[in-house]
Amino acid sequence: MQNVIPRRKKTVREIDVQGKRVLVRADFNVPLDEEGAIADDTRIRASLPTIRYLCERGARVILCSHLDRPKGEIVERLRLALVANRLSELLDQPVVALRDCIGPEVESAVAAMNDGDIILLENLRFHSEERADDSPFAERLAGLADVYVNDAFGASHRAHASVVGVPQHLPAVTGLLLEREVSAFTRILEKPERPFAAVIGGAKVSDKLEVLDNVISRVNLLLIGGGMAATFLASRGYQTGASRVETDRLDDVRRIEANAGRRGVRLILPRDVVVAERLEAGAPTRVVSATEIPDGWIIADIGPGAADEFSRELGNVRTVVWNGPMGVFEIPEFAEGTRRVAAALANLRGTTVIGGGSTTDAVQRFGLADEMTHVSTGGGAALTMLAGKALPGVEALDDAETP
Ligand code: 3PG
Repeated sequence: MQNVIPRRKKTVREIDVQGKRVLVRADFNVPLDEEGAIADDTRIRASLPTIRYLCERGARVILCSHLDRPKGEIVERLRLALVANRLSELLDQPVVALRDCIGPEVESAVAAMNDGDIILLENLRFHSEERADDSPFAERLAGLADVYVNDAFGASHRAHASVVGVPQHLPAVTGLLLEREVSAFTRILEKPERPFAAVIGGAKVSDKLEVLDNVISRVNLLLIGGGMAATFLASRGYQTGASRVETDRLDDVRRIEANAGRRGVRLILPRDVVVAERLEAGAPTRVVSATEIPDGWIIADIGPGAADEFSRELGNVRTVVWNGPMGVFEIPEFAEGTRRVAAALANLRGTTVIGGGSTTDAVQRFGLADEMTHVSTGGGAALTMLAGKALPGVEALDDAETP
């Protein structure tokens, strides 16, 4: 089995930052609404402990992040000034937004900083060099600072200049959020209190294969929901109606089932499902046995019988990791299975880790995020950790002096 994080990395708590220029890579890639306003500031809030920690210790804090995927061009609605405004409100202190992330104006703004000041560089992805991990670009970013802190868990699976390039040039440590995220995943994957269950859902099995392969070797119980259940049902020879079956993944699914059998892992598929004629609000729906999905109908959610069974099973475990919704929870008619799983986790007296992306959106939407042990801010990064793979952005940081 691979180790998720083989060596402990040095953290911001292990270095002196007084009077230092500290470049903090954050993940301020927040969703924007149609008017261009911040629709969810969770990632901004999650960055506050590290920023406050640094300011309180007299650091000059230079924040940087990407927002969306502007592909190396300036896109006005993706400027980070709106994040700076939100940060400033939350921190109750000015946060100066710059119009670029490198160049003479940035250098003079940094030179004019006092201890405890905060500036936010412009969207890193306005420069194509960021995604290309261009070495001169990374050097120019690094030249702004004395120390580098990675607090961008959500971007740490990307081998981009600000994530893996800059730490080659500066003392480089983890921020408080990155440390918390990595340790939450590492703890449950390496030393879970047992019984340990994984709940895996989402639309496509192909997105979760590496995760399934890794968790199957670690858990006692695996519950499968979401649209991807169709490929599991098809591999067992059942009719799946008009649900999407990934025929090129049937062998992978059989391998996972066989592996579960060999290891004594209980793999449970939904016994019943909510099916719909279309995955749209107001479309006709039915609850049917998962082994008898009628022609033309699509799996939209796990059924009430499956939700009962999943809740009962989850009541008997001590650790749960959950990645992927049980149905199309964004549409209220198809949200019940996901809500029931979220409620079961909220009631659990044990460790519950929510693996990012739409699963995090779901628990927030149901108002249950505070009931979980850990709700990840990362999408792809959480999947990378659940797949048992190292994050390049973590690997790039300095090792701790003590293990
Ligand atoms: C995310 O939203 O998952 C991170 O911010 C990474 O964004 P990206 O997928 O555009 O690299």
